[in-house]
Amino acid sequence: MSKVTVVGAGNVGATCADVIAHKELCNELVLVDIKENFAEGKALDIWQTAPVDMYDTRITGSTADYSKTANSDVVVITSGLPRKPGMSRDDLIQTNAGIVKSVTENIIKYSPNAIIIVVSNPLDVMTYCAFLTAKIDSSRVFGMAGILDTARYRAFLATELNCSPKDIQAVLMGGHGDTMVPLPRYTTVAGIPVTELVAEDKLNAIVERTKKGGGEIVNLLGTSAWYAPGASAAQMVEAILRDQKRIFPVCAWLQGEYGLKDVYLGVPVVLGKNGIEKIIELKLNDDEKKLLNESSAAVKEVMNVLDNLNQVTA
Ligand code: NAI
Ligand code: 2OP
Repeated sequence: MSKVTVVGAGNVGATCADVIAHKELCNELVLVDIKENFAEGKALDIWQTAPVDMYDTRITGSTADYSKTANSDVVVITSGLPRKPGMSRDDLIQTNAGIVKSVTENIIKYSPNAIIIVVSNPLDVMTYCAFLTAKIDSSRVFGMAGILDTARYRAFLATELNCSPKDIQAVLMGGHGDTMVPLPRYTTVAGIPVTELVAEDKLNAIVERTKKGGGEIVNLLGTSAWYAPGASAAQMVEAILRDQKRIFPVCAWLQGEYGLKDVYLGVPVVLGKNGIEKIIELKLNDDEKKLLNESSAAVKEVMNVLDNLNQVTA
């Protein structure tokens, strides 16, 4: 028996729950929201697709009753405000830190052994917030951003090359923001280095578009994306519950890797039943290292804002 809780039944949370249920990643799935009856309604709607799409995962909703989430194996935290046009992810910090802190306290109270995947923005700092609150090993608290950012990069490349996105393998590092570090040197198309297939100026344009990929959708929709973010978080749940040992870029707590310490940052990791089972250290060149250091400094600045808010450590 496996159990997953998704906190936040909004756009990302409901989509993530829908993907998890459709893939039958667990037996029991609990959707939680603070808005009265919202999670119950979303859960009922998703559950009513089960006879149509033929899956067994039992999905129920709850208005902030965390006793229903007890003994979850994996918890995905998507609660919080999304970005509106003109807002940066960092603008969300104070409100979302309060939300992530209280949610994490409730989760740990009822599921002390859970693995926690944070999605709420600003991602790297909300993951840090959950880590400080949960007081569990960092291998069990990490954030989703890299799969989404890499998916955007891969999708843009598939469009450019008019090829299947399945054949594009890539890795991307750094914070979930404009300082993220796509790595063309580690990008291949069916094993062929992407630099042999895409001209440098086009590749640079794709890298820049990727860095602003979240903002592009915010400008189109008036709120942030949910299909790709929900599916990306579900892919992490799958890797954990099926102990797949998949290698994904994940927002992880660094303790000396890449020469960086005490920072949550996107790096490639092995994801399996124990959460982050290994952080993979690539041999970055000087330019890549410089970009990663800049990204780390940008994330640390916002982590300091959180520390100064004194919401978590007090
Ligand atoms: P949304 O507004 O559709 O849903 C958020 C839900 O959280 C709402 O239903 C709200 O009632 C609920 N909520 C608020 N406070 C709560 C609490 N204390 N307990 C339980 N539920 C609570 O927003 P959306 O689009 O689903 O985005 C959710 C978060 O995910 C945002 O912070 C957004 O910026 C972030 N995000 C992160 C991405 C990433 O790559 N890491 C990608 C896309 C969104
Ligand atoms: C995204 O990247 C805004 O973090 C959100 O779509």
